[in-house]
Amino acid sequence: MQSNQFSDKFPHAPGGLGGLGYVGIDAPDPIGWRRFAIEVCGLEPALIPPGPREAGMPVLGGGGPDEAGVAPDGSVFLKMDRRQWRLAVHPAETPGLAYLGFELPLEGDLDAAMESISKSGVSIRAGTSQELEARGVGDLAVMEDPAGHRIELFCRPIIDQPMNSTSDIEFLTGSLGMGHAVLFVPEIEPALEFYRGVLGFLRSDYMRFGPDGMGIHFLRCTRRHHSMALVQLGPPSGLQHLMFEATSLDGVGKTLDRAIDAGVTITSSLGRHRNDKTVSFYMKGPSGFDIEIGWGGLLVDEDWVEHEFAGGGDDWGHHGLDPSALLPDE
Ligand SMILES: [Fe+2]
Repeated sequence: MQSNQFSDKFPHAPGGLGGLGYVGIDAPDPIGWRRFAIEVCGLEPALIPPGPREAGMPVLGGGGPDEAGVAPDGSVFLKMDRRQWRLAVHPAETPGLAYLGFELPLEGDLDAAMESISKSGVSIRAGTSQELEARGVGDLAVMEDPAGHRIELFCRPIIDQPMNSTSDIEFLTGSLGMGHAVLFVPEIEPALEFYRGVLGFLRSDYMRFGPDGMGIHFLRCTRRHHSMALVQLGPPSGLQHLMFEATSLDGVGKTLDRAIDAGVTITSSLGRHRNDKTVSFYMKGPSGFDIEIGWGGLLVDEDWVEHEFAGGGDDWGHHGLDPSALLPDE
């Protein structure tokens, strides 16, 4: 087993990271995103959006049902468990990934992580007090991956009440993080060196689509089979999809019903992935990239051995999901 990258305190988290803690995205229409996230995905508006409070008093749920979870700058914050928030949608002309936040579960590890990352030659800086307030975390560090994606490490996130979804869904989070993100990268080798060599992710498995590094690599930092996957298909870089994991198959099925009822484009039918055994479907989110809703993902033990797999990525289903379908919209 690879030794912990940052400290020896996390026998359950071989890379030192505690999972994908939060995701920020840019979108021209955060309110449209809010509607999709609540009414289709089953998330809940953040009870108190992070950020400065007037006169030091929290504003519970904003000023009305249409304003809950909306911060003064128009950003939308959404929760999926006891965390204050997990998904943020920031107003921007160009849609895309704004940042990924990975959690360091124990006090003191952020300093160790920053020192280790700096020594590897990657530029990393401490978050400003305004950034800490905007994220609702106790401490924060900021860097970029080789493809220019903003990657943040944080600790001590704000905790509040459990999610109370109106959609009869519960998400599998906790020490596994909020799900996974799949990123397009223009060159796979520098990206693998950064995520595996510098941040300490372990590769669970990988699949090659073609020559010159084309393929997908599944990386973990908790027992979840992958918290991140990297895809090289060509020049584009960006977010390909986010996965949220329901605690029941019914949660997936009911979300599929809501998506169809709402007229959301289903980009991949229900199916079971061959590698992590997740049963899921994919739908087109409001700003280009897909959202996968899954259930039953594999939890990996310490003795897991990485391997290459071929001949398709699914045991059954997932019609519409093939390498050409992964290409981003023009
Ligand atoms: Fe996925």
